[in-house]
Amino acid sequence: MVGSDVPAKQNELRVGFAQTCPEFGDVPGNLERGRALLDSAPAFDVLVLPELFATGYVFRDRAELQSLAEDATGPTLQFLRENARERSAWLAGGFAERDGARVFNSAALVGPEGQVHIYRKIHRFDRETEVFDPGDGPFQCHELAIREVRVRVGMLICFDWFFPESARCLALAGADVLLHPSNLVMSHCQRAMVTRCLENGVFAVTANRVGSDDRGDVAATFTGASQITGPGGAILESAPATGECVRVTTIDVEDARKKRISPRNDRLADRRPEHYGLLTKENADPGAAPRGM
Ligand code: ACM
Repeated sequence: MVGSDVPAKQNELRVGFAQTCPEFGDVPGNLERGRALLDSAPAFDVLVLPELFATGYVFRDRAELQSLAEDATGPTLQFLRENARERSAWLAGGFAERDGARVFNSAALVGPEGQVHIYRKIHRFDRETEVFDPGDGPFQCHELAIREVRVRVGMLICFDWFFPESARCLALAGADVLLHPSNLVMSHCQRAMVTRCLENGVFAVTANRVGSDDRGDVAATFTGASQITGPGGAILESAPATGECVRVTTIDVEDARKKRISPRNDRLADRRPEHYGLLTKENADPGAAPRGM
């Protein structure tokens, strides 16, 4: 896929998302449609697919999840490896990861030479807490070498957006771009990502899914509107709320390294961690805080 439209400027990369509509449990069909969507994409360097894009999201119970979970030799990782190699690009996407008796809601970042980085979702949403094991972290940043560009990327998965600490940890670890596979059911994330990107001075690629998982007594509908957000909070690309699509835009990685917001202010250097102790205290009791005069 790397061809004549390779960005001319130093530090420019093509990043994108695929917005998909998985059929619950139809792993081969979902991967086949994912491949067709990637075939229709303009050339890209890094592309993000949604959370759990091969299996679907609404598992009836842990036994059903275990029957669809896979390890690094499974079909989703194989799909990501093959497509990354064939397209000379990096791909990130979500999968149900089996590790012995444990099952995580994970994302894999896979490179053209078979490199694999895994992130296990730290903040589980709603019924996920009943079927998935909690991710064992940490939020991590990976440096990718793409042509002459060195870009640092970090993964978070869907509901992690709700916790500003997720994006902040990745920014502090040095991330330029947040890769954000999602299965969003609430409508606030896209607006929140504007703030997450602005306060950390990073890009974010939120790849959401569309459609519904209707499993009889449990169901969920997903909100689409995948989005690429810039470090100043600008929305660089966005998808409709319905329908599969793929979008790619060119970013200048250097823009995520300019952390100044005024001649005397820097997003990260101005932090006062000595006053943030409550953030790392487990189960801080809001009732114990002084309420003012
Ligand atoms: C979500 O975290 N998939 C809502």
